[in-house]
Amino acid sequence: MEDLIDKTNVPRHVAIIMDGNGRWAKKNGSMRVKGHQSGVKSVREVTEIAAEVGVKYLTMYAFSTENWSRPEYEVNALMHLLVSTIRKETRGLQKNNIKLRAIGNLDSLPSVCQKELNEAIKITANNTGLHLILALSYSGRWDIVNACKQLAEDAKSGIINPKDIDNDVFANYLDTKEYPDPELMIRTSGEMRISNFLLWQLAYSELYITETLWPDFNKEEFLKAIIAYQRRERRFGKTSEQLSKIN
Ligand code: IPE
Ligand code: IPE
Ligand code: MG
Repeated sequence: MEDLIDKTNVPRHVAIIMDGNGRWAKKNGSMRVKGHQSGVKSVREVTEIAAEVGVKYLTMYAFSTENWSRPEYEVNALMHLLVSTIRKETRGLQKNNIKLRAIGNLDSLPSVCQKELNEAIKITANNTGLHLILALSYSGRWDIVNACKQLAEDAKSGIINPKDIDNDVFANYLDTKEYPDPELMIRTSGEMRISNFLLWQLAYSELYITETLWPDFNKEEFLKAIIAYQRRERRFGKTSEQLSKIN
């Protein structure tokens, strides 16, 4: 299936809402936590195939601001899973030249998570392949409000003139400032919503929603999403005729 991919039109940045772990567990007669554990394999597979086809940035929504309101035992299990997964996977990231990064309100994570995450970020910092960006305690509104706060501070202290604020200036205050906007956003488990993910950054992303539950999502499913993306006509407000004139 990889042969069907047009290597000249691979999205630079793919963002994924990894959803459906709970439903997968229910379907298999197990506890929700088992679903989250089973989802780790999908993260590994997708990271590998994304790097293989030449994606440069892969952002994965792992825990939202709103997910803090889940039952305490589930939140704890997710935090433990995060720590043990980072511990286990860092060597593989090194081997595959992958650079781990994170976005979100990282200060709100338990200190053991912060420590493990920062260590893995440091260890993989000089890798030059795929950027794997985990969105943790992240939400689009948090990102935008946080950017506004910093922007207001900089305006107050005269570092920036409010007249000079434009899209690029604003984007530079977001947690994603180092990364281009995603060309493609994938959501598993069939939900037709953004769930407070990258609200600003998804302005012109192609959306691909599959019924497949996250623990069943694999290399083949990822390639299917890339192929679907490559069939889209990205018009950015223009007409189809205008686009064919350029080509
Ligand atoms: C996604 O799976 C994982 C997280 C949000 C952390 P869910 O846990 O939301 O699974 P469903 O949506 O209940 O099936
Ligand atoms: C979105 O999934 C968050 C993550 C995948 C981390 P949710 O399962 O929390 O989304 P909603 O609440 O169904 O919209
Ligand atoms: Mg869900």
